[in-house]
Amino acid sequence: MSNQDYDIGIIGLGAMGRNLLLNIGDHGYRVIGLDKDKSKVLAVKNAQRAADVEATEDVRVFLSSLRLPRAIVLLVPAGSAVDAVLKEITPSMEKGDLVIDAGNSHFKDTDIREKAMADKGLSFFGMGISGGEAGARNGPSLMPGGNKTAYERVRPILEAIAAKVPLPNGEPCVAYLGPGSAGHYVKMVHNGIEYGLMQLIAETYHLMKIGLKMSDGECSSVYNEWNHSELNAFLLEITAQILLKKDEKSGQPLIELVLDIAREKGTGKWICQDAMELQVPVPTMEAAVGMRDISLFQEERKKASHVLTGPESHLWGERDFFLKQLKSAYYASSLITFAQGFALLHKASSAYHYDLNLESVARIWRGGCIIRAAALESMITAYHSSSKLQNLLLGSPGIEVTNRQADLRAIIQIGMEGGIPLPGLMASLSYYDAYRSGWLPANLIQAQRDYFGAHTYERTDEAGSFHSNWGAQ
Ligand code: 6PG
Repeated sequence: MSNQDYDIGIIGLGAMGRNLLLNIGDHGYRVIGLDKDKSKVLAVKNAQRAADVEATEDVRVFLSSLRLPRAIVLLVPAGSAVDAVLKEITPSMEKGDLVIDAGNSHFKDTDIREKAMADKGLSFFGMGISGGEAGARNGPSLMPGGNKTAYERVRPILEAIAAKVPLPNGEPCVAYLGPGSAGHYVKMVHNGIEYGLMQLIAETYHLMKIGLKMSDGECSSVYNEWNHSELNAFLLEITAQILLKKDEKSGQPLIELVLDIAREKGTGKWICQDAMELQVPVPTMEAAVGMRDISLFQEERKKASHVLTGPESHLWGERDFFLKQLKSAYYASSLITFAQGFALLHKASSAYHYDLNLESVARIWRGGCIIRAAALESMITAYHSSSKLQNLLLGSPGIEVTNRQADLRAIIQIGMEGGIPLPGLMASLSYYDAYRSGWLPANLIQAQRDYFGAHTYERTDEAGSFHSNWGAQ
């Protein structure tokens, strides 16, 4: 390791950090990693000797090996670990140095950190990174936001390592998204959509497995067929694979041995919290978080299953026709989920002064990330023709949903009759129905508020605020 020879450094050599480091090395950049854990340093040293990659446990060696002004990527767990690393390295950093937090940090923390770093003459930006370990190694989707000048400095590296659409030399799935915490905000919304889509797929699995008594192999074939159609999407591809995987010990389908408890690291909850803050509804994502939460009550659910009765979860009808409707219902609800996520970005863009380009967001989600899907092409077209589109349902994706709504309604009806919980599909349909309602019964809610709390109401025939004595007939 010679002095100031490395183009970029990575702190945190867990699976994500190590893979990103190797990806950067593969693209001809000199990269050095830092981790306090000797085994992780050794894993990098042993992983690849061809490219110019290096790793150390010594923070001084790490910092003195980087070219000035330094560019350092953090891949440490979100939360206090980020602050601990910043506290350790900033005293030895110099003006103009840049730190990129590539973890799933809360966007508000990113704003606070950016300000604190700027006060010290240092640049800091948040960058969402999606695609898991394989993405980090072979091409992730990158969502950077923060100081634009600092971004330009690392742009060639980020463009080189990002996923490409189409492969191998197409558009890189990375774009400067906006100032402050824009990158982490967009990643949070990505994750909200991820939660929504996963819940919708789980509901289609429930309908097939329990309602139609289909085997895991049969369900896998359905997802495989969907993935090879206009529904093409990474989450469908992996679902088809998951359902075929056999347990090495028992030879049984591995999925049958996985406990029905779904946990989360927090981004799904954060998006719901911020959507409430900005008053933008994201009901499919709320349903997804709620269902993960109800899955945690496994003991209670087991008890309740002996006490509370309902229809037998068996669906009647012609299987092929049902599966055709199910495919269409899934597609419609997935588009509605994307519409909710983009509507939140639309509002956040002005509320937080990100000035997001939603066409760019759709473009960088086409490769590398968990929610990559062929459907993003129609979203790009929608934002290309109208960059200020308030909701994707008002563009061509809305036409796709309208054309498929009958199938979504039919599937929900069948599921309800069979007592199968479908909160994601139902929330998606209700969002569509509410959004297309020129009139909603909110007049009654407002009148109730005015009755018991004198909160006043607005009238259809006159401007201003009014209060009535509703009890006096
Ligand atoms: C990605 C994923 C990833 C996600 C984790 C944990 O884009 O690669 O979104 O960043 O945060 O898989 O997600 P959970 O919240 O479900 O634990």
